[in-house]
Amino acid sequence: MLQIRHLKKTYNAGTDNELKLFENLSIDFEAETTALLGPNGCGKTTLLELIAGRKEQDEGAMCLQGKDITADGERARAAYIARVHQDPSDGVAPSLSVLENLALADHKGKPFTLRKLVRKERIDFYREKLAELGLGLENKLSSLVQDLSGGQRQSLSLVMATMKEPRILLLDEHTAALDPATSQTVLEKTRELTARHRILSIMVTHEPRSALRYADRIVVLSRGSVAMDVRAETISERELLETYLHA
Ligand SMILES: Nc1ncnc2c1ncn2[C@@H]1O[C@H](COP(=O)(O)OP(=O)(O)OP(=O)(O)O)[C@@H](O)[C@H]1O
Ligand SMILES: [Mg+2]
Repeated sequence: MLQIRHLKKTYNAGTDNELKLFENLSIDFEAETTALLGPNGCGKTTLLELIAGRKEQDEGAMCLQGKDITADGERARAAYIARVHQDPSDGVAPSLSVLENLALADHKGKPFTLRKLVRKERIDFYREKLAELGLGLENKLSSLVQDLSGGQRQSLSLVMATMKEPRILLLDEHTAALDPATSQTVLEKTRELTARHRILSIMVTHEPRSALRYADRIVVLSRGSVAMDVRAETISERELLETYLHA
């Protein structure tokens, strides 16, 4: 579904700090969940940013469902790509209420004025979306997002990111800051939402166990190339850990 061809990305080209991160990376992603693992600095976040159009590659091409999207900028890609970041404060407006944040996500890509931000007829729909999480957030519509816990914010980010049913969902260690129980809830919800809407999801994680449990496919990156690419059900946690440790 998403084809990445001959990707090349160098940071600080021509300086002493030059870093040739990707020299010729080609990889395809399908409408399923792919867990992306690899040591710190191997280029996971950069790859997601290149896909989101937030960074520009030096060379290479990207096609989504046969259409060349290489020239699409971040704004154009935001119409079909959503992201959830590691930091629970990213992707939400902390000084606005839960309701206002949901309304903002609902207006994504459309012009609006703040006064008309919240449309009353959508409130039940938002409440329903929050109730699906099972975290009681549907009773906190008027709470300011800055008063929510990290797990609650991250769950809200997930609901906001998937509200417009993006074709691609990019998750960059989106449960790294959460306690184990909340992390599990968010991962389960992520899995359910992406499977139900057949969203192509790329989930960066440092946890082999979560990768095996919540992804269909496991890709390990190492020094700018693919060190392992397998179906999740064909590999044990020990084998994955081995590859990961030596990547
Ligand atoms: N804007 C930038 N300018 C220069 N170098 C950068 C920039 N962004 C990232 N890098 C470098 O590129 C390399 C890959 O960074 P990236 O953030 O993609 O790694 P990562 O795999 O996401 O790591 P982590 O697991 O720590 O999140 C790192 O060495 C980083 O220092
Ligand atoms: Mg990263």
